[in-house]
Amino acid sequence: MGQKFSVVAVVAAGAAAAAHVASKAGGSPGSSPKKAEETEKPTAAEPEAAVAGPARKIMILFGPPGAGKGTHAPKIEAKLQTPQLSTGDMLRAAVAAGTAVGKQAKAAMDAGALVTDDIVCGIIADRIKEPDCTSGFILDGFPRTVEQAKKLDEVLAKNGEAVAKVVELRVPDAVLEERICGRWVHKASGRSYHVKFNPPKSLPKGKKAKPKYMLDDLTKEPLMQRSDDTAEALVSRLKAYHAQTVPVLQHYGAGKAVGVDANRGLDAVWADIDAATEWD
Ligand code: AP5
Repeated sequence: MGQKFSVVAVVAAGAAAAAHVASKAGGSPGSSPKKAEETEKPTAAEPEAAVAGPARKIMILFGPPGAGKGTHAPKIEAKLQTPQLSTGDMLRAAVAAGTAVGKQAKAAMDAGALVTDDIVCGIIADRIKEPDCTSGFILDGFPRTVEQAKKLDEVLAKNGEAVAKVVELRVPDAVLEERICGRWVHKASGRSYHVKFNPPKSLPKGKKAKPKYMLDDLTKEPLMQRSDDTAEALVSRLKAYHAQTVPVLQHYGAGKAVGVDANRGLDAVWADIDAATEWD
């Protein structure tokens, strides 16, 4: 386990994530707002609100970088009426806001390495207490190590809760470089585009993806590329995924994990995710 983190900084990151989820409620499919400065910090009383009430729908959206987690999560949110909690989005918000957590996380993220378990477990433990998690939540990019899974289980068990489903998006490594290196995102909203598979309306057919052509469909603001979306960083991200994250599937076992072939068109992938996220 890594070093202890600043509670204040983690709350700031959690608040960024809270605003992210709240602002997504009316967002378009594919959106994943992350802007730290648009956040509203929770009051001291708010975090306890989500743990009371009926059983929460708790699921993990699992898969390698570029598998389609961020692409499909908004549709699961709309279906289950539960927020997507992306540790990657929360960490990027913390980096953008310059918090202590952000400063600790930045170098690891840029290199494609994992941020310490302490940091991400702290962020999630705070985040799932917030009122918008009253009906449940979709974990995206967490847990990423067996240690994180055990910590999550401990936190949930205190309230008699457990992860109910793990939906694994399966994509061969060879496909991921094109997806990652062709991704452009709208920083403020998190909306994700792809030069080939999901181009913005502003990119004329046959033109190369230059910044002047890469604008958000809704706001017309410029899109950007993530600093870790490089072929070099992807090698490290995939290495971390196979060595440290795939064992999390075994931790939860075949009873909870459902595999989806995510190496197909978006509609076909969604049809299987839709079936896998039916809730009794
Ligand atoms: P994070 O932000 O979680 O990144 P990731 O897991 O690497 O996932 P991505 O966001 O890259 O992929 P995605 O599956 O969401 O892909 P998308 O849907 O956009 O983490 C970033 C970093 O933060 C980590 O490396 C680590 O440093 C740190 N971190 C985060 N959580 C952590 C944790 N728990 N512990 C420690 N460190 C942590 O799709 C990608 C592209 O493909 C898009 O352009 C999309 O349009 C396209 N696409 C999607 N589906 C299809 C399809 N079916 N066909 C064609 N194109 C498609």
